[in-house]
Amino acid sequence: MQIFRIQGGSRLSGEVKIDSAKNSVLPILAACVMTEEPVTLLDVPNIEDVANMIEILRSIGADVVREKKAVTVRAKGSLTDELPERLEKTLRASVFLVGPMLARLRRVTFGYPGGCEIGLRPIDLHERGLRALGVVIDESSGRLRCDGGSMRGAEIHFDYPSVGATENIMMTAAMLPGKTIIHNAAREPEIVDLARFMNACGARVSGAGRQIVTIQGVKRMHGVTYKPIPDRIVAGTMLAAAAITGGDIYLTNAPASDMVAQIAKLRDMGCDVHDGQDTLRLRAPKRLRSFGKIQTQPHPGFPTDMQAPMFALATVADGSSVLMETVFESRFQHAHDLMNMGADITLGDRMAVVRGVQRLHGARVKAHDLRAGAAMTIAALAAEGTTEITQIGQIDRGYEALEASLRSLGARAIRTAE
Ligand code: EPZ
Repeated sequence: MQIFRIQGGSRLSGEVKIDSAKNSVLPILAACVMTEEPVTLLDVPNIEDVANMIEILRSIGADVVREKKAVTVRAKGSLTDELPERLEKTLRASVFLVGPMLARLRRVTFGYPGGCEIGLRPIDLHERGLRALGVVIDESSGRLRCDGGSMRGAEIHFDYPSVGATENIMMTAAMLPGKTIIHNAAREPEIVDLARFMNACGARVSGAGRQIVTIQGVKRMHGVTYKPIPDRIVAGTMLAAAAITGGDIYLTNAPASDMVAQIAKLRDMGCDVHDGQDTLRLRAPKRLRSFGKIQTQPHPGFPTDMQAPMFALATVADGSSVLMETVFESRFQHAHDLMNMGADITLGDRMAVVRGVQRLHGARVKAHDLRAGAAMTIAALAAEGTTEITQIGQIDRGYEALEASLRSLGARAIRTAE
């Protein structure tokens, strides 16, 4: 089994280029099946979740070719109308294909994507939106058989601004007769990016990034070459890695304007952050101050995907910090492993109080989920001695060769068989 082995104590400095955002690329890859013409996406990272989504596209009949960082999808001819069960389990984001396949085929069968380490992750809001558009869903077989034969535009109100449900309904509605209005839509930058991509293919989506999104159905969509937005969570993770080592990092192709909440907290910790058009430079103090309190919220609140990386910083910051996780019900898996490294943490329900210690010490820890794995990697960079991180497949889901990027900045980090 492969593990990360990290020797703490090196100060990180240097330059890193950020690739396209995983959480933009995944829905956009799904949206490619809405046209028979070729779509090419640029700067696509080599990560597990993308590889799995490409597998799923191929399994339903699309042709997908990767040339270095460019991925071209051609969903020509007839596609199967059922998602492959064995692949659905590898990737929750397979649910993003439901909308595009309904838009293209007017029918689709798929399974419940299933929960994961951070929560149950139901899809009731997706189903509510689909039913509002006239989709008839038969769940008697244990899978969801959707008949979209009589779909037409509708007004929909989400009880919660779900990112995935907003994206699914935007795509389902793109080629329906009539207009669809989504109230209480998610406002994440990846929603804006998906709308921009869809409009570049001929769709008519307006209001993305605000609470009300309107989709005017069109007859067809065409191909395009498109560069998704950079990954604000990978960018934030690299800033946090430099910050915990008192380092100095320069990011290019960085989405500074999508990172206001993160940058504010890093400045509260005493970091000097200079944000350019699409660059970011962070210089960290020798010792970080506590950021006080972080409460995760839907955008533009503090992003839940950065909660774990900031949790790691809090463990060695001067003072006490409070973290409240309001988006997912169990996203503190990293806390116990951080305690094994010497962190002083008190856990409550969806809340953690962290009292900063002078230094953590190395230990053998686990990457429970994607962002928890990032947190353990960050903590290991500042720990006394050696840390081994297992289950690094979780990290590879969303970070391309994280250990190599960190090594290029001076970290003593390797990927090795244990
Ligand atoms: C997307 O997940 C991201 N994944 C997540 O990133 C991210 O954490 C999340 O949005 C919030 O920003 C992708 O884009 C591939 P939600 P998604 O629907 O769409 C509940 C990462 O680390 N909910 O906004 O699943 C849900 O259980 C991943 O890159 C329902 O109750 O997020 C959760 O508690 C992790 N019913 C909350 O809403 C529904 O039908 C937010 O979920 C849908 C969601």
